[in-house]
Formats: sequence, structure tokens, C-alpha cells
Amino acid sequence: MSLTTLIQTKQSSSRTMVDEQRIDCQFVDHRSYLTEQEITDIEHETTILETREAAGIEALKIVQHNRGWISDESLYAISDLLQIPAATLEGVATFYNLIYRQKVGKHVIHVCDSISCYLTSYQEILDTLKTTLNIEYGQTSDDGMFTLISNACLGGCDKAPTIMVSGVHYQQLTPGKVIDIIHSLKQGKQPEPEHIAEAEDIAEPEDIAEPETIAAQDNLADQNSTIEQENGSEQKKKGERDV
Ligand code: FES
Repeated sequence: MSLTTLIQTKQSSSRTMVDEQRIDCQFVDHRSYLTEQEITDIEHETTILETREAAGIEALKIVQHNRGWISDESLYAISDLLQIPAATLEGVATFYNLIYRQKVGKHVIHVCDSISCYLTSYQEILDTLKTTLNIEYGQTSDDGMFTLISNACLGGCDKAPTIMVSGVHYQQLTPGKVIDIIHSLKQGKQPEPEHIAEAEDIAEPEDIAEPETIAAQDNLADQNSTIEQENGSEQKKKGERDV
């Protein structure tokens, strides 16, 4: 082993020891950190869920609801209250992207970048948000109002592109609608998803296929299927004759 490698290995192992010591030393007495209401709500979850670990995610949600995000102190206080390892809670917190381990803005904007939204110009939506708010993914706007986060499918694939802002889903978005949403939120108004629908998104009656047109298409499909079957039988018979 070269001298450089040896020094790097020692530095690496000493960092690991320091980190482990720091983690071992973390303790926050839940009685001095959580409010009485938070403690009551979390203890209630332990009575209706099978394990204390299962109550962990609910505890994180309760504290985040009150404080906006989950600080290290909150995490260790919950760990103390539920008597489960902080590492277990950390695993839960980092798995669920609706639990925020960093301070976030008043409104967290989750932008779906999964396949349906990807195919329906989510990039335009994202670019509009970045330009309007002057932030990148993971950042919070200067006024502390908005944080931008990427998200996997938000469950509105048939109405893509979709974003979720403070728990409210907005679908079939256009850059114009996105600007309207941001504008309303800045004014302290909660834009209702149905109030941001633009005229061009509403199908005109003539755009909707008439029932008789659909029936005619079905008949045509049946006829084509019959012709294909007959052609197949003819070819089979011809093949048998040739043999
Ligand atoms: S892919 Fe965007 S909501 Fe499903």
C-alpha cells in the first residue's frame, strides 16, 4: 500500500468514527422539544397502529404539519418519544418525498417528470416555474414562498402534465396556467384546480365523436375481421389443394 493510499484510508476511517460518534451522541428529550398536542397526537397513533415503527411515518407527518419540515431535533425527539432508532425514522423520512428534511417554502411545488407528463411537455411547465420563481430544483424562492421539487408519477397520468402544490393537484397544465397559479398564491389566494381551466382544454361538442360514427367504425372493423378470416380460409384450402 502506498503512503498516499494509507493516509487516505486512515483519514476515511477517522471520519467514519467521528460521524458515528456524532450520531450516537444525538439525543433530544421529546418532553422539552415537542408540544403537548404533538405528543398527544403521536401517542394516539401508537394506539391505533400495530407497531411503534408504523406510527413513525404518522409522527413525522404530525410534526411536519406543525413546523413545515423535519429538523434533526424533531427527528431525535420523535425517536425518543416512540423509542425507535433515529436511523429507522431517517430511512422513512428519506424514502417518502412528502417528508421534508430541509427547510422548505410556504408552498412546495412537486413537478411530475414521469412518462405521461414527460410526453406532454412537462419540460415547458418546469421551465416556466424555474423562470417565474428564479429557482432550480431543490431551491426555495427568495421570498420564502416556493420550493421546487421533482416527483415521480402523481397519479394524474390521463390529465398530464401535472404538478402538486401544497397537496393540491393541478392537471392539463400550460405555461399560462402555471403563471396564474403562482400569481394567485402570491396574492394569498388558493387557486382551485377547476378555476384555472382554459377554454382550449374544454372539448367542443363537434370534437366528440357521434355515437353513430362510433357504431359505423365498429361495423367496419367487424367487416374487415370477417374478410381477413375468409382470406385466411381460402389460402388454407389452396395450400391443401397444392399439397
Ligand atoms: S406521469 Fe405525471 S401524473 Fe402520472
